[in-house]
Amino acid sequence: MEQKIPVVILGATGSVGQRMVQLLDSHPWFEVTSLTGSDRSIGQPYGEACHWVLTAPMPTWAREMIVRPTDPGSAPGQVAFSALPVDLARELEPAYARAGAAVCSNASAFREAPDVPILLPEVNAEHAAIIERQRRERGWSGCIVTNSNCTSAGLTVALKALQEAFGLRRGVVVSLQAISGAGYPGVASLDIVDNVIPNIKGEEPKVEAEPTKILGAYRDGAIVPAEVVLSAHTNRVAVSEGHLVCASLEFDRAPSVEQAARVLADYQGPAAARDLPSAPRPPIVVRTEWDRPQPRLDRETGGGQTTVVGRLRPDPLFHLKFVVLSHNTIRGAAGGSLYNAELLVRLGYAGGLP
Ligand SMILES: NC(=O)c1ccc[n+]([C@@H]2O[C@H](COP(=O)([O-])OP(=O)(O)OC[C@H]3O[C@@H](n4cnc5c(N)ncnc54)[C@H](OP(=O)(O)O)[C@@H]3O)[C@@H](O)[C@H]2O)c1
Repeated sequence: MEQKIPVVILGATGSVGQRMVQLLDSHPWFEVTSLTGSDRSIGQPYGEACHWVLTAPMPTWAREMIVRPTDPGSAPGQVAFSALPVDLARELEPAYARAGAAVCSNASAFREAPDVPILLPEVNAEHAAIIERQRRERGWSGCIVTNSNCTSAGLTVALKALQEAFGLRRGVVVSLQAISGAGYPGVASLDIVDNVIPNIKGEEPKVEAEPTKILGAYRDGAIVPAEVVLSAHTNRVAVSEGHLVCASLEFDRAPSVEQAARVLADYQGPAAARDLPSAPRPPIVVRTEWDRPQPRLDRETGGGQTTVVGRLRPDPLFHLKFVVLSHNTIRGAAGGSLYNAELLVRLGYAGGLP
């Protein structure tokens, strides 16, 4: 691309915002022109306002950028990557869409709206077409798309591959979720060190509902949810990054372990989503060791965008069980938003086609 697309990160100082800054460093299509934060940070250089917790160094271009208020007048962008808390997202993301920006949100504020897609491009790139209806009905020239809850992300990629091949009916999923999923500073160290917290407020309904929307069919301007029933248990564990999910599933046609492994490893996803800069390469990796995937060893697979599946085995209650890992602040958040934005550019919903 001769000229890069100017983008803004809303809530750039937090856990997901930092990942956005890191992943947008030297992006082939996008250039960060504004960073926003709360009153705590506005007016300060990003390098001072942000408590950087990533191992990669803060990019030099970000260090001196002054953190701005979150409004399209002060901090414009053709694409707005939103890492805002949910209440603020509900109020501020529509302002950006009205100003013509393509809002790629990490927040859950609009995930349930019938005219807003929850996009995982390697699963449901075709759902982006609902933006036409969103623009018509809401009267704005921009758009809002969301990524899924971080726990649903890798799980739903694996479910999609299996659903296509064997017809998915129902299942039980149990998460072991990293601390960074709670943002920064997140869970108090005295609560999580040497401990597991057997609930994450508001998480289980999301993990039960979001995959059914993402796996649904796009028909006549509507997303028809898949007829899949999931029961979720969600737990916070003392891991810095990488959410594990243990899944037991029932299908229309019971696969053997070998058939399931082949279908997962061969999964490609829709053509429109395959060769984008942030596309996972490959979408799914299948591990065969007795003790993988593990968050610390496997979360960086495919730059943190690839879903890692392991421990595939028969399930005595349903048909198949396995463990799935995905990087929560990359594939489950910032990397997911970036992939969504690239898809929107490719489809003409966020400026020109590179
Ligand atoms: N962490 C994950 O793995 C993950 C995964 C998927 C989705 N999400 C979602 O992504 C969003 C961000 O999560 P996070 O974990 O990054 O949270 P976080 O670490 O708490 O960061 C929140 C960000 O919002 C900013 N903010 C707070 N109040 C603001 C205001 N009044 N105006 C403008 N900005 C304001 C903060 O800025 P200051 O620092 O300046 O206060 C900070 O940059 C949430 O909706 C979360 O549910 C998170």
